[in-house]
Amino acid sequence: QRVQGPEEYLAAAQEKFLQRAYLLAGLFSDPEIFRLEKERIYARAWHFVAHESEIPRPGDYVVRYVADDPLIIVRTESGEIRALYNMCRHRGMQVCRAEAGNAAFFRCPYHGWTYKNTGELIGVPFHREVYGTEGLQRGEWPLISVRLESYEGLLFVNLDPEAVPLREYLGEATFYLDFYLKKSTAGLEVRGAPDRWIFPANWKLGADNFIGDAYHTAFTHRSTVEVGILPVPDANFHKDGPQAIVGPWAGGYVPNLPYAALYPHLIGAMRANLTPAHHAIMDHDLWQSHSTLFPNLSFLNAPGIMPGTPPVAYFTIRVWRPLGPDRMEIWSWYLVERDAPEEWKEASYRAYVLQFGTSGTLEQDDTENWSSITKVAKGQLARTIPLNYRMGLDHLQPLTDWPGPGQAYPVDYTEYAQRHFWTTYFEWMCSNSR
Ligand code: FES
Ligand code: FE
Repeated sequence: QRVQGPEEYLAAAQEKFLQRAYLLAGLFSDPEIFRLEKERIYARAWHFVAHESEIPRPGDYVVRYVADDPLIIVRTESGEIRALYNMCRHRGMQVCRAEAGNAAFFRCPYHGWTYKNTGELIGVPFHREVYGTEGLQRGEWPLISVRLESYEGLLFVNLDPEAVPLREYLGEATFYLDFYLKKSTAGLEVRGAPDRWIFPANWKLGADNFIGDAYHTAFTHRSTVEVGILPVPDANFHKDGPQAIVGPWAGGYVPNLPYAALYPHLIGAMRANLTPAHHAIMDHDLWQSHSTLFPNLSFLNAPGIMPGTPPVAYFTIRVWRPLGPDRMEIWSWYLVERDAPEEWKEASYRAYVLQFGTSGTLEQDDTENWSSITKVAKGQLARTIPLNYRMGLDHLQPLTDWPGPGQAYPVDYTEYAQRHFWTTYFEWMCSNSR
């Protein structure tokens, strides 16, 4: 049957997916679908933009993006953090042209309107002469503020004034985020600036991979195990360990080195900061974890290794920022426990750089697959070809004794987490389901 238009295509894709777990390949390439994703997902969901430690002092700011929308994330003199739309209210120029810095105010380079770092318009060149005394009320023309809320140091924004609060959006997903974020009482800090690079692949391929594609490690990453970059006995190490799904979050756990080789001194604090339900999961040796928070924020906590040195834990979070149906900007942050010793932090950072970021070995393996998929999915016939998302569907049952919220399935070689992502995706995208 010939399908016309993005709405009909989406409806047909949703039906195929919900009935059979078949996913139409055109979702990875279609420009019309991409336009609707920006409207229906990027303009409405909560999006991670920065970690609090990136802007510790009053005046510190970073410029970040939600798809195409540019935002200045700034700490004001009172210590409050704001998200200001990076667009001058006069003619629309970018008021902040740097990527990061410290500023009490932002002066527009075009005609010189000046805004405090709270967004308030405080200076207009020749104000009285050109506008008269009543012609322009400065108080009515601040930079546009966007909603910003935080969870455990992670700063999220939402472009939709009607959206539910962040805590409500996250719901019970906070249980799983706490594994990453509460490892030390002193909290986490971002080391360096996030790595970022533009890559010719659809954003959903990153989200889909990190959420539950344990299966690819045995094949795509086999060579890294063989040369000793991954501290695991064999490339099938991701097979065991459950996948869990709850609300906007889904991911998997892998039995691996204790606490993913976290600095030993931190383990006591980590246990004290978490709940008995977390302990029950940890006590099953489930240390390594990959996941995605809908739509495009992924997490990885894993042991890495520099050949010839002991394994060491590292933690990265990444945003798959969409730039087009076939292009994304990957943002990759490395975070570390503030109270770990400096030499351990350095070793952990080096392990991260070896595996992920612009030069990461695992990153290179992964992204080669995603750019190829995106290229093939542009074909006219590809648009109608169903891809198989059925792994585990016919023979696995949810665990009955999983201590965490949501549902969990006994192995990581399954596609429960990915199916959860796509079901959520269709709920946001299909006008008939929201
Ligand atoms: Fe900013 Fe004119 S565009 S002052
Ligand atoms: Fe991978």
